Amino acid sequence: MLRRENVCVDGVRMSDAGFLFDPNVSTVTVGGETVEYREHLYIMMNKPEGVISASDGGSRQEKTVVDLVPACWRRPGLFPAGRLDKDTTGFVLITDDGAFAHRILSPVKHVPKTYHVWLRDPVPASVPTLFAAGLTLDGERLQAASLRRLSSDALIYEIVLTQGKYHQIKRMFASVGNAVIKLDRVAIGDVLLDPTLLPGECRLMRDYEVLSLIKA
Ligand code: URA
Repeated sequence: MLRRENVCVDGVRMSDAGFLFDPNVSTVTVGGETVEYREHLYIMMNKPEGVISASDGGSRQEKTVVDLVPACWRRPGLFPAGRLDKDTTGFVLITDDGAFAHRILSPVKHVPKTYHVWLRDPVPASVPTLFAAGLTLDGERLQAASLRRLSSDALIYEIVLTQGKYHQIKRMFASVGNAVIKLDRVAIGDVLLDPTLLPGECRLMRDYEVLSLIKA
């Protein structure tokens, strides 16, 4: 780029790739346009069904959420912070900031993840109490989960978890004799999935959204 384009730091044309400057102080332009420096990217995606939450499609070359990131935001090191099942839709956070991802995923930090879940059968009144007390799955005691009905005419519920075990919600409902028909993640912490994002679309997260997750 330095060879081909007019790259300037504070108005001075650069040709030396070793030139050091502080990106928080200096202004960089390429062809007259200011380039904003971001150490890390935080991308909010509305994951569609049929793509996997990974950065690599594996031996089966499956389509991943990172494949859906537009070229302008693609960079090495991007990965989804947390996994949704292939058939689960909704909020996936894609970043290249490992420490941030660890923070929001660690069960110790209790960052809540909110899902809407479509169920096969009605839910007996005992189930929300069971989930709130911490269900035991395969001998392991889960953290408390809150469950509430969202619609009175359909079997749609909201469930909030603070950890993310493999197929957790599907296994929780299976353990009480029910089945998940559809699962959609609508929020991570206080950050709601942007309702203007169609399945497969994404946008950069706003600074206040990232901060709210760091503080959560
Ligand atoms: N629980 C599940 O069972 N699947 C998901 O994708 C997320 C939580």
